Amino acid sequence: MTRHFLRDDDLSPAEQAEVLDLALRLKADRFAERPLEGPQTVAVFFDKTSTRTRISFAVGIADLGGVPLITASGDSQLGAKESIADTARVLERMVAAVVWRTFAQSGLEEMAEGTTIPVVNALSDDFHPCQLLADLLTVKERFGDLAGRSLAYVGDGANNMAHSYLLAGATAGMHVRIGSPADYSPRADIVEDARRIAATTGGSVLVTTDSREAARGADVVVTDTWISMGQEAEKAERIAVFGGFGVDDALMAEASADAIFLHCLPAYRGYEVEASVIDGPQSVVWDEAENRLHAQKALLVWLLAHTEDAR
Ligand code: CP
Ligand code: NVA
Repeated sequence: MTRHFLRDDDLSPAEQAEVLDLALRLKADRFAERPLEGPQTVAVFFDKTSTRTRISFAVGIADLGGVPLITASGDSQLGAKESIADTARVLERMVAAVVWRTFAQSGLEEMAEGTTIPVVNALSDDFHPCQLLADLLTVKERFGDLAGRSLAYVGDGANNMAHSYLLAGATAGMHVRIGSPADYSPRADIVEDARRIAATTGGSVLVTTDSREAARGADVVVTDTWISMGQEAEKAERIAVFGGFGVDDALMAEASADAIFLHCLPAYRGYEVEASVIDGPQSVVWDEAENRLHAQKALLVWLLAHTEDAR
């Protein structure tokens, strides 16, 4: 069986822990794993813009001994001129894995169904699971453990980051609290999946419209842009709705005294977060950004190893 990483719960709790431990090892010893030596190529497609994901996959694939082939989807036949299924069959004849940033989660699922090589979600409208591996790594570095820690996500509860916090946080045994306006609360099926996972890991899930309730006593406070890629036309309406759901010093004061602040970036200071927080002493956003590299390298090593095992 081929292993894919399309959503955060594609890794079991034990598997997620294995990937994070490997990421810590690779952070300490950057070239310790070279599964792509040959070199083999990894195809990386972008349907949306990117800085961190693009650079971290390019550098990470090279670190693993491979060659990254980064393509803006508009430059390829994928989507407009050629089906996902046909693309998937061509790719498996040439590359070791596919990494894809796209809109619909269903496209990633179709790609995964049609190929024998691992497919990695580099952000979709529904999830951003690679970011979550980096975020959990950052929390682990700071606190040593994940299980039992509480994480408050404040802002757009219906976006990819909120959904990934629910699934990945529950998988790690964390207490995940989402504070968002009622019309922007997380998708019900994802909340249900997160609750089901949390019941097995000792974690929990709280969804509230009160950002202070979410942040109270939290070890980790996190937010994301109010306007995700693809939502630009809703900018004015979103800024109006999310006012009051930004992270400022008063909200950080509700959290634990040693709480850390995370943001996947890019950040919009004065909107979802005040400069005093993201540029302040509790912010670990630059470690978080660097950890994309280490976490994704570990993920690729793990996926390639488990896919080969099964062949
Ligand atoms: N956090 C993140 O995915 O950043 P990019 O959009 O720059 O890749
Ligand atoms: N929610 C954001 C995350 C960016 C990394 C978006 O989808 O644009």
